[in-house]
Amino acid sequence: MKPRILVVGSLNMDLRLSLTRMPAAGETCLGRDYAYIPGGKGANQAVAAARLGGQVFFCGRRGEDCNGRILEEGLRAEGVDTACLTADPAAPTGLAVIPVEEGGQNRIIVLPGANMRVEEADLRDALWQPCDGVICQLEIPLETVFALHAMTRERGIPLIVDAGPAMSLPLDRLRGVEVISPNETETQAMTGLSVGDDRSALEAAQRIQSRAQARFVVLKLGGRGALLYGEGVERFYPAYPVQAVDTTAAGDAFTAALTLRYLETGDMETAVEWAGLAGALAVTKEGAQPSLPTSAELEAFRRSKV
Ligand code: RIB
Repeated sequence: MKPRILVVGSLNMDLRLSLTRMPAAGETCLGRDYAYIPGGKGANQAVAAARLGGQVFFCGRRGEDCNGRILEEGLRAEGVDTACLTADPAAPTGLAVIPVEEGGQNRIIVLPGANMRVEEADLRDALWQPCDGVICQLEIPLETVFALHAMTRERGIPLIVDAGPAMSLPLDRLRGVEVISPNETETQAMTGLSVGDDRSALEAAQRIQSRAQARFVVLKLGGRGALLYGEGVERFYPAYPVQAVDTTAAGDAFTAALTLRYLETGDMETAVEWAGLAGALAVTKEGAQPSLPTSAELEAFRRSKV
């Protein structure tokens, strides 16, 4: 049986700018090209989970505009159920501007629009259908995230919180969450610790765990891999070396694969391995949703690494 996953979160149209280098403050520089690409952390995670074999439902809000329609159709074409995606006349669809420089490093500016109007009532409708796990991120109002935490706990459904984008998060409001997974900048924003080496990463994970009482903390450490902390396990996973083209949505591929594999097997250690493979593959292609791997691609990549 395919795990049934509800993703509550954002969808954005990404305006991807391809640059040789980022301009300095006050500088004008000529870029190479640009493209509009479906993105948004929530939608990316929904598409990734569907491509990897999950049965996925999406809950969120889009504007009543052209971008919103394109993004919704894109989700449906991937097999994601959009019955709980609301077209909201009061705000435009989310937009992200993503300059990417040579070597794949990006910066992301999000104009959230309708994503910031997702509220508790939306969750009630979405949680009406049975599901095995729920994923969310922080591109919707935090109060909605906290309400989701309370509602999933009440129903005994594991909640996986992808802690992006970076912000100072009151972790006590997520007390008892199943999984919390920040990247390096998100970890720093949450704990005040810069995680430049294994020792500081471990200290940050311990700090997050003690504040949120999470079952598992999974730190995404970019080119250094990942750290799993919780339930007596403390394990660093090296990154899979790949030719980086664009890091956009690598974290989303990671979270989706982590969730799917964890729900399938109940084994978080294997889930982090799979997540690392998915994240590495996403880095090898341009853009958000076009870079997310299928289960066949992931399996082939995994075999090439053993
Ligand atoms: O994680 C990558 C995503 O962050 C992009 O697709 C962008 O839309 C922002 O939400």
